[in-house]
Amino acid sequence: MTPSRNALAAPALGDFTGRQLLRLCEVAELPPADAVSYAKVVTQTLGHVAGQPLDQPPPDLSFLSDDHTPVEFSLSFTVGAAPELRVLLEPGCGEATTELSGRAGLDAVRTMGRRWGFSTRRLDDLEDLFFPPDAQGPLALWCALELRAGGVPKVKVYLNPAAAGRDHAAATVRRALDRLGHQEAYASLPDTGRPLFFALDLGDWDVPRVKVYLAHHDLSAEESAGLSRMSPGPERAGIEEFFRTATGSMPGEDLRLDRRPGQSCHVLTDATTGTPDGFTLYIPVRDYARHDGESLDRAVTLLNRYGMDPGPLHRAVSAVTSRRLEDGVGLIAYLALAHQHGRAPRVTVYLSSEAYAVRPPMTMPVQRTASAH
Ligand code: TRP
Repeated sequence: MTPSRNALAAPALGDFTGRQLLRLCEVAELPPADAVSYAKVVTQTLGHVAGQPLDQPPPDLSFLSDDHTPVEFSLSFTVGAAPELRVLLEPGCGEATTELSGRAGLDAVRTMGRRWGFSTRRLDDLEDLFFPPDAQGPLALWCALELRAGGVPKVKVYLNPAAAGRDHAAATVRRALDRLGHQEAYASLPDTGRPLFFALDLGDWDVPRVKVYLAHHDLSAEESAGLSRMSPGPERAGIEEFFRTATGSMPGEDLRLDRRPGQSCHVLTDATTGTPDGFTLYIPVRDYARHDGESLDRAVTLLNRYGMDPGPLHRAVSAVTSRRLEDGVGLIAYLALAHQHGRAPRVTVYLSSEAYAVRPPMTMPVQRTASAH
């Protein structure tokens, strides 16, 4: 096919997401030269699918986002600092099989390692567990980049514990933790929830983390507050309040996450204690709100409550989309509250690219049990 010379031709996936990223970098106060180099990294990491025009269907049914864009942004807020910008990518997007996608993902991460001078050894040591022949599942490898001034991001890799089948997911997590020196850790995790991701920090981290993500169907506010295994852990009341605000629960209403599950993440850093020293709760706000205006209001309420400036969030939303927030739901995908020993709490807002599609708003109120008259 000859490339179209029409000025109105659909932009390519890489150009579209790259421009979103450039605008977000401005919001995050990153130097323009770093922004340009990060936008290039996104295009390079996506590989050949970056050149695909957006009037073609998505390269595959990527589980990374609802409309299958293999890119998602997030802004992580802490008190008293500019929010940190991150981008999540699926390097193997568009490959014919999960196994090939995994190969492409490993290549992409190793290329980053050579470029930025970090070792991929911890990932290499797990290759047989997460990249079996005939790998299954909705992902093989995702990577997230935390974009810092200076042009060298911090790198996180997400793997699929169910790569060798769902029945093996728990055993895969246990073996992977063992290999990384966290022999005691598996027993300390909640025994509810389905292992969804296994994540590793690579590159220049003060304390590189290993993270286990669990999906929790039908989760309630109260149950969510019982999922932390940190010791000492965060206040239960704070977690419950976050759950209720993020889901838009009415006073006295016992809402459960009966659409998309909530997720918990358990962070391991110190192999000697054997218990997690971080806990994050993820609420898939988009399945519990009518439209993104509602989701944004909840995010702003939470940021204000934690003493974080919501200004950058408003600017980030405009950097990613020009549509009215009431006209769709899913731009704001998740709201998360993260606790880690030795660090201030963080509120993170996940922003979809919506390169391919916008989910229409919900016309009916969400999840309201009819009140007795
Ligand atoms: N799209 C998937 C989901 O909604 C995976 C995912 C993407 C995700 N970004 C995330 C999960 C952020 C938790 C938090 O589950």
